[in-house]
Amino acid sequence: MKKILSSKKLEKLPPYLFSKINKLKLEAYKKNLDVIDLSMGNPDIPPDKEIIKRLCETVLEHPKTHRYPQAKGMPKFRNTVAEWFLKRFGVKLDPEKEVLALIGSKEGVGHLCMAFLNSKDYTLIPDPSYPVYYNATILAGGIPYLFKILPENGYLPDFGKIPQRIIEKAKILFLNYPNNPTTAVVEDESFLKDAIKFAKKNNLILCYDNAYSEITFDGYVAPSILQFEGAKDIAVEFHSFSKTFCMAGWRVGFVVGNEYIISQLEKFKSFIDYGVPTFIQLSAVKALLDYDRIVPEIKKLYQTRRDIMIKEFKKIGWVIEPPKGSMYLWCKLPEKITKEVGSLKFAEKLLVETGVAVAPGEGFGPNGEGYIRLALVTANNRFHDAALRFKKVFKELGVNLKIKS
Ligand SMILES: Cc1ncc(COP(=O)(O)O)c(C=O)c1O
Repeated sequence: MKKILSSKKLEKLPPYLFSKINKLKLEAYKKNLDVIDLSMGNPDIPPDKEIIKRLCETVLEHPKTHRYPQAKGMPKFRNTVAEWFLKRFGVKLDPEKEVLALIGSKEGVGHLCMAFLNSKDYTLIPDPSYPVYYNATILAGGIPYLFKILPENGYLPDFGKIPQRIIEKAKILFLNYPNNPTTAVVEDESFLKDAIKFAKKNNLILCYDNAYSEITFDGYVAPSILQFEGAKDIAVEFHSFSKTFCMAGWRVGFVVGNEYIISQLEKFKSFIDYGVPTFIQLSAVKALLDYDRIVPEIKKLYQTRRDIMIKEFKKIGWVIEPPKGSMYLWCKLPEKITKEVGSLKFAEKLLVETGVAVAPGEGFGPNGEGYIRLALVTANNRFHDAALRFKKVFKELGVNLKIKS
């Protein structure tokens, strides 16, 4: 029998960013290495107890919650999202038409591509970025166009550099701030106004991924794209409970914004999924209602971890700027390591030899080369050891960083 091959689209995709790292991680565990896992943005602490209690009560006491859920999100879920959004961003949403529940924002971003892209339509994707934008474009039969985002511009794009012939064939523009992996935030809101203008002028869906909107530090408050005039004409914004409430495994998020785009995403989803289980929707409602009590603590946790890790790195001579948002550190590798080894080989060596798992920058796009991304998802007392292990591998690769006071 001939081998049955997967689709050309699937073949075209590079292996999932974390598959190689995950494989090495498992091998490291098998070898009894003391693994410090800073690779995935997978929160290590459980959700608040009240959220868990709500889940347990609902599952035990409400037999109807075991039935198929309301796929677009039950009215209670959509109304609570709309109320939270008004309170948090000052943006009024119609819960009936402008809010849709998602099985995590990854699902929504992926399916948005399927719902809107015809074969050979382009999407405009920052380089580096969350890999799902690229992968979902390919799976939908579209063509990803990567535009560089650079540290000298605060990792904001220069739309003027995207060729007109590509813009004309493009249908979706992806933006994400606080940014994964670069940790950049939008400080000058005129950028968002320009992005809306650019998307409107060029008939693009502005897909604004706000998965890290609530994980911000030093008093910085992340905006919603929907706060700005005209956004609802072309934009949808994705939100996640995974990071905000440490509910990554619960698979729940939502998208808000343009009514037509949401209706088409809902239509697409209706053919392939049944939505978020009712007991998860009700737990997510509890999370939003208790936002003021729960989220400041989570922010504080990540801010403390950020500061400890940066301090430990400073002690080995590696200076990393503290980010104002996200749950990551985006760390520029010493030049010699980038030139001679590269971020993937470095990450592999670090993991195999010392048990520290990180995400290599090139996994987020070619322009991510020269960096590694660290997720702040381990206990505070592990950062000291992690930094020493970096130092050991740097030294083995001939890099001795100068310690600045
Ligand atoms: C930028 C960005 N968007 C979306 C997601 C996916 O979040 P969810 O768990 O809601 O699917 C992630 C997860 O890492 C992310 O980094």
